[in-house]
Amino acid sequence: MSVTRVIIRGCGSYLPENIVTNHDLAAKIDTTHEWIVGRTGIEARHIAADGELTSDLAFNAAQNALKDAGMAAEEIDLIVLATSTPDHTFPATATKVQARLGIHHGAAFDVQAVCSGFVYALSVAENLLKSGQHSKALVIGAEVFSRILDWEDRTTCVLFGDGAGAVVLETSEGEGTNDDRGILAAQLRSDGRYYDKLYVDGGPSTNQITGFLRMEGREVFRHAVGNISSIILSTVEQAGLEPSQIDWFVPHQANKRILEGTARKVGMSMDKIVITLDKHGNTSAASIPLALDVAYKDGRIKKGDLVLLEAMGGGFTWGAALIRW
Ligand code: ACO
Repeated sequence: MSVTRVIIRGCGSYLPENIVTNHDLAAKIDTTHEWIVGRTGIEARHIAADGELTSDLAFNAAQNALKDAGMAAEEIDLIVLATSTPDHTFPATATKVQARLGIHHGAAFDVQAVCSGFVYALSVAENLLKSGQHSKALVIGAEVFSRILDWEDRTTCVLFGDGAGAVVLETSEGEGTNDDRGILAAQLRSDGRYYDKLYVDGGPSTNQITGFLRMEGREVFRHAVGNISSIILSTVEQAGLEPSQIDWFVPHQANKRILEGTARKVGMSMDKIVITLDKHGNTSAASIPLALDVAYKDGRIKKGDLVLLEAMGGGFTWGAALIRW
């Protein structure tokens, strides 16, 4: 039976030039390289320059993805940008990226699901393409979390970084089997009872300020392994597959210990997990497309591979997508 699939035609990423190591942080706040690496696996992160905005990072990643896809910007009629650090409260940062790419047709909007943003945006775009409402999409994850960090709070500021990644999507006819290229399954979840476990303490309707990130790290950690493991298993099962059949896991890059716990729980080998958090830190919605781009460009992810994306973040939100590359 012929079915419409949504395939990834190309991907790209962009990181700000400035690299801040754990040693650099230890020179300014009461922390050590050993504590940060031991608790998280993070060694360094990129930090945007003054005046470098989320839209700048997103635009550069989008251009790199279009180049990789061999596609002109005018062919894109949908931009979905996942971010929790927009240039302004409104309009959507996606519309700024759309204008910079010279696109004046179709639709562009932001999706806000914090660290799960890219998986949410991918799923939204997949369904808009499958319905026939749009034909080619850019899905971008871009963040400058450095601007919402309290640099005096050592329990959070050491964890995050800035960056952007993007993919170009288009439809393709498949046979309706797991051998088809494209997105084979996707699932999204949220549970707002945990709203205050990881949040930013400012907002237009609350106190009219931007605010800073606040987190109960242990609580987030406690839920992360369970939520991520269960969404991996149910997404793989939706496609009638087993975790052992996955070639590459490309997870949200929050903490190496969360990934180790998840690997143990679902029975996946650590060698199949793409890890970039050592160099990028947690870049929230940008972390999955950044990791995807690294593993695709260095030749690990090849055409025909089964790739599983997964994330969890503030809300709580979580989700996964299974893709035949
Ligand atoms: N440097 C040195 N010491 C520190 C630092 C630091 N940067 N931060 C905290 N400490 C100290 C604490 O003060 C505490 O000291 P005490 O024992 O004297 O009171 C000690 O280290 C232990 O603190 P905990 O918060 O209990 O440390 P924990 O082992 O839980 O690790 C961490 C903290 C890394 C934040 C962990 O809880 C975690 O990774 N949680 C998940 C959070 C996360 O990844 N969030 C990202 C967004 S959600 C997501 O993406 C899944």
